[in-house]
Amino acid sequence: MAVNPILKAHGIPDCDALAAELADPEARTLSDETVEALLNNETYFFRDHDAFSDLPRVLEAIAANRRGKTLRIWSAGCSTGQEIYSIAMQLRDNEAQWRGWSIDLLGTDVSQSAIDRARRADFSQFEIQRGLATGHMLRWFENVDGRWQAREKLRNMARFRRHNVLETPPPGRFDLILCRNVMLYFPGTNRARALANLAGALAPDGALMLGAGETVLGYSDRFEILPGVRSLYRLAAAEPRQILRVAAAGS
Ligand SMILES: C[S@@+](CC[C@H](N)C(=O)[O-])C[C@H]1O[C@@H](n2cnc3c(N)ncnc32)[C@H](O)[C@@H]1O
Repeated sequence: MAVNPILKAHGIPDCDALAAELADPEARTLSDETVEALLNNETYFFRDHDAFSDLPRVLEAIAANRRGKTLRIWSAGCSTGQEIYSIAMQLRDNEAQWRGWSIDLLGTDVSQSAIDRARRADFSQFEIQRGLATGHMLRWFENVDGRWQAREKLRNMARFRRHNVLETPPPGRFDLILCRNVMLYFPGTNRARALANLAGALAPDGALMLGAGETVLGYSDRFEILPGVRSLYRLAAAEPRQILRVAAAGS
């Protein structure tokens, strides 16, 4: 059981006793530890090949509408950082295209330990092998005592902070929001709440990317499917928006 280490560490006999302790509003640390234990932080580099092969076209379409050379990308529920570092590496793969651009990469997660790890950006042998091509690994990571540390140049491209997607979003509007494999476990009311928050944080011609198999349907009418790209949404016609169009693959 996920909470067993918490029970053991605090000398709590069982789940009923844990629930009783959590009812105490002063039990802040215990409550944080319990939430941490229950979260599923599963992630890996370039998770979902299709999504990552679509991303350059999506960013290109968004950038085409920008007068200033700035882009803001938010990974909401970024876990230990693999998603945001994958985007950073992909941007650097297309360095010539993004020269002169200022690109803000923000990763947030409700788990403080995930955020601490994302900031440290050091990965085990198992983690580094998941989804990362050898070329990317050698270019962007160095082996330090058997673990793989992201080079400073990559680390400096991203910033991380703790944030709950059910609460007021970080300030400003984002051109691309990724919230992938986060809402899977939410009850419907929380999905609706999270999607309302994400809609409010999206630039008028921005895009929202969910995980493969996730949908807004039935939870929000503030988005519509962006034709031609999997798992991607733009603001719906009723919203103050500029229409974002993404070229079909291969065109
Ligand atoms: C399964 S991981 C997905 C990570 C990454 N987005 C991916 O697709 O690989 C889900 C992440 O969502 C985070 N999470 C769960 N509930 C959250 C919430 N209310 N606000 C922010 N993050 C949350 C978890 O801590 C976990 O790190």
